[in-house]
Amino acid sequence: METMTENKSENKKRVFSAIKPTGNPTLGNYLGAMQYWGGMSDEYDCIFSVADLHAITVAIEPKDLRENSKRLFALLIAVGIDPEKNVVFMQSHVRAHSELCWLLNNYTMFGEARRMTQFKEKSEKAPENINVGLFDYPVLMAADILLYQTDIVPVGEDQLQHVELCRNIAERFNNRYSPTFKMPEGKVPKAGARIYSLTDPTAKMGKSDSGDAGAVFILDTPETIMRKFKRAVTDSDAAVKASPDKPGITNLLNIYAALCGITVAAAEAEFDGCDYATFKTRVGEAAVERLRPVREKYDALRRDDGRLSELMRAGADTAARIAARTLEKVYKKIGFVRT
Ligand code: TRP
Repeated sequence: METMTENKSENKKRVFSAIKPTGNPTLGNYLGAMQYWGGMSDEYDCIFSVADLHAITVAIEPKDLRENSKRLFALLIAVGIDPEKNVVFMQSHVRAHSELCWLLNNYTMFGEARRMTQFKEKSEKAPENINVGLFDYPVLMAADILLYQTDIVPVGEDQLQHVELCRNIAERFNNRYSPTFKMPEGKVPKAGARIYSLTDPTAKMGKSDSGDAGAVFILDTPETIMRKFKRAVTDSDAAVKASPDKPGITNLLNIYAALCGITVAAAEAEFDGCDYATFKTRVGEAAVERLRPVREKYDALRRDDGRLSELMRAGADTAARIAARTLEKVYKKIGFVRT
């Protein structure tokens, strides 16, 4: 596994992505992104990280950080990322991320970081905790990406601005010294299924809405999943047809189509003449069946903490070796004495 990834073949492009261990991943996260990650290793040389260092810019309890991190790591493997074919690791286990972040801070302009939309939004949301880490967040993200000489960064729309900043930092550094970093490209997956809340189908299904009946979590029990779907809001009209004035039914049809890998039109045809209660039950059952193997694989991993730690160590070792090469170059180019 290590040799395969380190001597990445010339024709395979490198993909790097990371996901923060905040909140609880939802069916929306699964259908919109996570379900595709496992299959990417055929075409790309993939590195996936649990961005735990990024999770502390917003106040989080130690036990939550710990549990969320383990859960997300196990979940990445459970959704299909094979640690034999990909590098999967915890960001904080590879010190190079924090180190390169410090170095890159000196090639990042205060003005460009201040313009980041996410920083402005999070500052407004928590005016009592506008810490420097929150401000520095995109620079750490740039370090994540640049350490691995990444070609492609799959991200949500909201993170494209951060990838753009990363490119600016890379270009500035490369121009100041000599080519050091590969220029990464942010890629938003083609409009996959956009999944909305089951209780408010005009709002995104959020991974931080724990306790919210509107969000189905990947790790919910089958009973909970069924209950949430049965209580999903619909509307007064009784036809199972997608339309802009029926956001509840449209959302459920989108979910069903994404779960079964069919078009919305095919889903509509399947439920022609069906009543809402039966329809919602069928969508719930499809979700339960689709998530069952993920949950089973996850449970098996979480029952064996030793195995989980082993996988974390193996991933971090491989990542650290790749990252060290870039970091060493950076130190040298800046003029640090190396012995
Ligand atoms: N900031 C990203 C998010 O909130 C997570 C992330 C951290 C990331 N480092 C990254 C994504 C590097 C892509 C590449 O979703």
